[in-house]
Amino acid sequence: MSKSKGINRVLTLELARVTERAAVAAAGLIGRGDEKAADQAAVDAMRRELNSLEIDGEVVIGEGERDEAPMLYIGEKVGKGKGPKVDIALDPLEGTTLTAKGMPNALAVVAMAEAGSLLNAPDAYMDKIALGGNYPDDIVDLDATPEENVKAVATAKGVGVELINVCILDRPRHADMIAQVRECGARVTLITDGDIAGVIHTTDPSTGIDLYMGTGGAPEGVLAAAALRCTGGQMQGRLVLNGDDQKERARKMGITDFDRKYKVDEMAKGDVVLSATGVTSGSMLSGISHQNGVIWTETLLMRSSTGTIRWIKACHANRDKFHLND
Ligand code: FBP
Repeated sequence: MSKSKGINRVLTLELARVTERAAVAAAGLIGRGDEKAADQAAVDAMRRELNSLEIDGEVVIGEGERDEAPMLYIGEKVGKGKGPKVDIALDPLEGTTLTAKGMPNALAVVAMAEAGSLLNAPDAYMDKIALGGNYPDDIVDLDATPEENVKAVATAKGVGVELINVCILDRPRHADMIAQVRECGARVTLITDGDIAGVIHTTDPSTGIDLYMGTGGAPEGVLAAAALRCTGGQMQGRLVLNGDDQKERARKMGITDFDRKYKVDEMAKGDVVLSATGVTSGSMLSGISHQNGVIWTETLLMRSSTGTIRWIKACHANRDKFHLND
């Protein structure tokens, strides 16, 4: 047993295997134009691996109704049922469209924390704003204008606005936001999908991205917050609950203030572990590759209590273990 508090160290490393398997399974569907099949393959592999862990786990952030994805559903019990009680947040395939179209940046992602530590959010949208570490607290705000936020970051960074780069999902709903960022003189990096990576990019100066803004999935918001707990960085997230059904679901999950702006440690507290494996190669991780009969994976594994971030490049010689039939 680990002497450190929180998630067991060995269990931390086990989480890498969970996303490796999900990523390899999804990779079999890269470029085949079938989002659901790719997601299903990742879900099945992730479920199988999670159920082999010595945990008493419950999925608190899972696949869901928003896009009718095949589910590892919210409330599903995972693990062998013995071992520590943990919350699991997962996105077996972050970037179903990216995978189906053979585009960069698809990931398999899972986070684990002690039971009760992760925000139980419904499968809805979330307004998000995020920036990397080394800034004073609370310099950006969801209720400030894009211009105010960009200027605040430029001032804190000690650079002109023209050197600030904002990552935004390329969606019609963001047209005004994109225009306002450009009008104030900053640059915009548009992504077609994958805002977990978009948020994480703000914590890595080599990406050139300073700020993430926009509305995306709430599950992805909680997973991004889990990542920021490990890497450092700030984020605000506010659920976007449309209609009585979503509000009722949120209420059942214990959410009463629908306008609440959640900070990183209100979405992911305690000891948090996050693992992400590349499915298709992208700005954060290399994707799955098959070379000379072996499978290569690249995984980012991080843990908040130690602040350790591992890039694990693995060569898997035994392809049978991945249930591949090719
Ligand atoms: P999926 O993998 O579930 O398709 O999610 C991809 C994604 O781009 C997320 O990263 C993002 O949070 C969400 O979709 C945005 O939703 P929408 O595509 O409905 O704008």
